[in-house]
Amino acid sequence: MEYIYAPDLKTLGQIAARWVAREIILCPSVVLGLPTGSTPVGMYDYLVRLGQEGLVSFAQVRTFNLDEYVGLPPSHPQSYATFMQEHFWDKVDLRAGSTEIPRGDAPDLAIECLRYERRIREVGGIDLQILGLGQNGHIGFNEPSHNLEIKTHVVDLTEKTIQGNARFFPDISKVPKKAITMGIGSIMQARKVLLLVSGEAKKEILSKTLYGPVSTEVPASILQLHSNLMVISDIRVKED
Ligand code: GLP
Repeated sequence: MEYIYAPDLKTLGQIAARWVAREIILCPSVVLGLPTGSTPVGMYDYLVRLGQEGLVSFAQVRTFNLDEYVGLPPSHPQSYATFMQEHFWDKVDLRAGSTEIPRGDAPDLAIECLRYERRIREVGGIDLQILGLGQNGHIGFNEPSHNLEIKTHVVDLTEKTIQGNARFFPDISKVPKKAITMGIGSIMQARKVLLLVSGEAKKEILSKTLYGPVSTEVPASILQLHSNLMVISDIRVKED
């Protein structure tokens, strides 16, 4: 594992964006796995800037988002599809059809999960998976549990996650209770993983993620087993 300390969230975003841009320059047809949440916003902003300055082109890049709320159509203001459009997809030269995200409004969610998993395989898997970290140690929406799902699946969100994401909705009753998420296997099969974590409130969970026992109760701790993990964070954590 490589750990890069960033003094603040803005710098974290810039370091992450440069890292992603470097991967695109080395391999213009790179397949990226993308997160939502507040942590990666600065990374997207800086990637947009690098694109506008002509330093990087997304024309051959393909992207797969980690997750989407069940029940929200892509056009819903709080859907992750809308988040991605506003922060990234519509602001760079990604080609139409090169961005993928599970359909939370699919008539048959089980078929949608299979379709998404197959799409990832069809393009040869994810080269660089970028992740945020949930307050309870989730990655994507892989919540703490007795067992972790390998493939893309439907998940019941925990109360902690629903509360954590309520800030993006008019009130907590509007937060979806289910999501579709890439599974732990889909994430671990990515050739490289970039974990972005910000804020003192995540210090304890980041410490458990990186230095605690690998446990399904802290889903992100499985990343300790990934052979190419880079962490960028504005938190200082140390092994005890
Ligand atoms: C959501 C997303 C996660 C993300 C997490 C953290 O739950 N499904 O993929 O990592 O939020 O978000 P934030 O960066 O806002 O703390």
